[in-house]
Amino acid sequence: MANAKIDVVGPGDLTLIADLYSQIFKPARDVEFFKRRFLGRYSGLLLVASVEGRPAGFASGFELKPGVFFSWLVGVLPDYRRQGIGSQLFEALEQWARDHEYEGVRFECHNQHRPMLHLGIAQKYDIVGIRWDSDRHANLVIFEKALVEHGE
Ligand SMILES: CC(C)(COP(=O)(O)OP(=O)(O)OC[C@H]1O[C@@H](n2cnc3c(N)ncnc32)[C@H](O)[C@@H]1OP(=O)(O)O)[C@@H](O)C(=O)NCCC(=O)NCCS
Repeated sequence: MANAKIDVVGPGDLTLIADLYSQIFKPARDVEFFKRRFLGRYSGLLLVASVEGRPAGFASGFELKPGVFFSWLVGVLPDYRRQGIGSQLFEALEQWARDHEYEGVRFECHNQHRPMLHLGIAQKYDIVGIRWDSDRHANLVIFEKALVEHGE
């Protein structure tokens, strides 16, 4: 287990986030891509995972609608995978969302992102639906997890 350090970072660290993103996803994206996505959003969240002082992964999210937090992108550098860092990022994001009064977290994932589908199940998310992504001409699997217990 890597036991990464997870930090909440701010807009000043978007260069690092864009750099991590571009090492994990294609095509590469710049800071403007992230700024644009966060524009006008409530509760923008950026997390960086570090191992021995070196950035190893990131997570990002924002409010989807009142009460529901959206986990937008999660990525771990290839050399650091299967060491629990993706799980740590999810757990930190959920704790942050809980601390900010959100009742649930949602994320969406293409079928091609197999490790993420596995991670969602491992993190006890429910599959609550699929939707057609007309930009990518592929289905997105929708995952959700309640952060608060609702009484009967
Ligand atoms: C998805 C991703 C973030 C997972 O990060 P990670 O640090 O490797 O995840 P963890 O080590 O915390 O995995 C926890 C559990 O998830 C499941 N899992 C993760 N990757 C898996 C894989 N490749 N195959 C099968 N199960 C996997 C396992 O149950 C794993 O537990 P185990 O290692 O004890 O078996 C990472 O693979 C990644 O960055 N992928 C590319 C980016 C991506 O597709 N992001 C999602 C789109 S937003």
